[in-house]
Amino acid sequence: MRDVQYRSAEREDFAFLATMLGEAAVWRPDKPTPTAEQVLADPGYSMYLVGWPRPGDHALIAEQDVPVGTGWYRTYTEASHGYGFIAEDIPELAIAVIASCRREGIGRRILAGLIDASNSQGYPALSLSVAEANPARRLYESVGFVPVEKLGSSWTMVRYADRSQ
Ligand SMILES: CC(C)(COP(=O)(O)OP(=O)(O)OC[C@H]1O[C@@H](n2cnc3c(N)ncnc32)[C@H](O)[C@@H]1OP(=O)(O)O)[C@@H](O)C(=O)NCCC(=O)NCCS
Repeated sequence: MRDVQYRSAEREDFAFLATMLGEAAVWRPDKPTPTAEQVLADPGYSMYLVGWPRPGDHALIAEQDVPVGTGWYRTYTEASHGYGFIAEDIPELAIAVIASCRREGIGRRILAGLIDASNSQGYPALSLSVAEANPARRLYESVGFVPVEKLGSSWTMVRYADRSQ
């Protein structure tokens, strides 16, 4: 197991978040990953990061000398939202780990950190969108996300906060 450190992201981490948005946007290993510039030029994806950090945004960085993974969430509006939108008070998350560091528990740790942070911020739930064929679905299901709607080939999933804790 690598010695990986976890910390909240800073404004300076924006470029890494944008790079990893490309990884999350085109998750299939057999397809070319868009660059940060390409995802930021696509309004369908740039909305996940434009103006970051906005109030209420939260991002975690996993690093081993250099960043190796990240996950973040933000809220959207009925008028302007991404693929995994459920409600204006439910943030949607995005997550990606660099290819050479996957399947080592880093994504799971980031996800747990985002869930904890969203609970601390008082959000009622977290949502996400995941392609039906993406094995990340099993990771989400294992921490309590449940499918709510299928849009095209992707599932919107939600995990409600456990207020009994
Ligand atoms: C999804 C992602 C963030 C998970 O990060 P990770 O560090 O690899 O995840 P972990 O090692 O913590 O957990 C992996 C779990 O996810 C699932 N999983 C993720 N990728 C998998 C794969 N290629 N094959 C099988 N299971 C996979 C499994 O349930 C696995 O649990 P296990 O190792 O106990 O079997 C990472 O695979 C990634 O960046 N993928 C490309 C981008 C992406 O798809 N982002 C999500 C878009 S919705």
